[in-house]
This record gives sequence, C-alpha cells and structure tokens, in this order.
Amino acid sequence: MKTIHKILVVAVVIFTTGGMIVGCSSTKNAYTAATDVQDEFKIEKSGAQMWGEACNRCHLAPSPADYNDTDWSTIALHMRVRANLAENEIAKIETFLKSAN
Ligand code: HEC
Repeated sequence: MKTIHKILVVAVVIFTTGGMIVGCSSTKNAYTAATDVQDEFKIEKSGAQMWGEACNRCHLAPSPADYNDTDWSTIALHMRVRANLAENEIAKIETFLKSAN
C-alpha cells in the first residue's frame, strides 16, 4: 500500500472513532451553574424595600411625607451619591417617595 493510502485509512479511523465518542456523549444532565438559577428566581426589590434598607444606613430614613416631589428630586440626586446607588435603584426609591407623600 502506498504511504498516502495508509495515511488516509488512519485519518478515516480517527474521524470515525472521534465522531462516535462525541455522538454518545449526553448533554441532558449538563451542570447548571447556581448563578443561573439565582438569576432566574431573582425577586426584584421594591422602591419601598430599598428605601427601608438604603436610607436607614446613615440616618433614620426620612418619611415620604417629609418633603414634596420637587424636594425629593433634589434629595434623590444628593443621596444617590452618598448611598452609592445605581440609577435604577434610586429611581425606584424616588418613585416610592413621591408616590407616598
Ligand atoms: C452614606 C450615608 C447616607 C446614606 C446611605 C443616605 N444618606 Fe441621606 N444624608 C447623609 C448625610 C451625611 C446627610 C447630611 C447632608 C450632607 O452632608 O450631605 C444626609 C441628609 C439627608 C437629607 C436632608 C436633606 C439633604 O439633601 O441634605 C435627606 C432628606 C436624606 N438624607 C434622605 C436620604 C434618603 C432618601 C436616602 C436613601 C436613598 C439617604 N438619605 C441615604 C448620608 C446618607
């Protein structure tokens, strides 16, 4: 047999065996990372809940009734920086404060 034929036979054997091994492997019980599950079931905190948590850290959380809507807009800008909150977090808190005053 010529060398080129030998190489071809070996190559065919390698590809067939490899294909069989890959074909038999199952992905049914593939591991699901715990973080994926957490994200799936993540319950978003409400503005009221975040107000209770974030705005109580440094001082007593002010009551929504303490200020009017215009004041809350300014305070939200100010306290977002102090409390290091994300834009969507302070937006929810602000909405809650304005809805309950
Ligand atoms: C990291 C600490 C910290 C957190 C968290 C914090 N505050 Fe403050 N807050 C302060 C300080 C300090 C002051 C006094 C004013 C100043 O020096 O900035 C203040 C003042 C205030 C005042 C008085 C008016 C003003 O703007 O100065 C209000 C109202 C207020 N905070 C509301 C809130 C609300 C609502 C939250 C939640 C989103 C919050 N704070 C979270 C530190 C904090």
